[in-house]
Amino acid sequence: MIVVSGLSDQKSHVKALKGGASDFISKPFNEYELKLRVVNQLNIIKAFRLQSHLNAELEKRVHLRTLELEQATEFLINKLAIVAELYDENTGKHILRVGKYSGLLARKCGLNEQVAFMIEKAAPMHDIGKIMISPDILKKPGKLNDDEFTHMKTHVDTVRQLFDDHPSMMIQMARSIAIHHHEKWDGSGYSKGLKGQAIPIEGRIVCIADVFDALTTPRPYKEAWTFDDSIAYLKNQSGIHFDPDLVDIFVASTPEIKAIQEEYKDD
Ligand SMILES: [Fe+2]
Ligand SMILES: [Fe+2]
Repeated sequence: MIVVSGLSDQKSHVKALKGGASDFISKPFNEYELKLRVVNQLNIIKAFRLQSHLNAELEKRVHLRTLELEQATEFLINKLAIVAELYDENTGKHILRVGKYSGLLARKCGLNEQVAFMIEKAAPMHDIGKIMISPDILKKPGKLNDDEFTHMKTHVDTVRQLFDDHPSMMIQMARSIAIHHHEKWDGSGYSKGLKGQAIPIEGRIVCIADVFDALTTPRPYKEAWTFDDSIAYLKNQSGIHFDPDLVDIFVASTPEIKAIQEEYKDD
């Protein structure tokens, strides 16, 4: 808006500009000056619109790139988990079910969706540290001796260096899960022997999901336990191996657990 006025004092100028005018021309005006001022204003508007358009384009591109990166991260995380699982000569869709059980438990215990989503996606990597374990020990058919078990336990520590202090929240979640999934509620777990609430909740959640899935599926050294026997084991170990509140929530989620078992059952 350009104000054209017979008032030529400073106060009127300021009043018009404060009121929203972008320029002020005093009468009598010169035709050439008026045209020039109008052209200037139009140029400013054009430049502003161009800049807005460029910003919107840039935002769109950044959004696309971010999405691409997120998808690539998720893809790589899944592949990494599968590599660890294959190396372990394991168990079909174990890691997928552990992810799903963990996500279910995380949502049901009141964690917000973003955290629950990260736990679900990172849980499949709980044993990623096993890629650093000697295959002879990993694939030994019988029971491990003390030295072998000590070596096996290091699979939670190697992750500390593997994922380091990377700033990605997803990587940090995966790191924490991998480090804490063998801690026990009563402090008798490894690697630090943390107790109760001192164990990060993602570790307590994945611990239940991992053990429950190991019980309900066959392994080279054992038959699959029945659903009821596995739930009974969780209840029996509530407050000893597992967080008792989380066991209660898990046990109360039978329909959802059975739906996950059905959807992700091994071929
Ligand atoms: Fe493990
Ligand atoms: Fe596992």
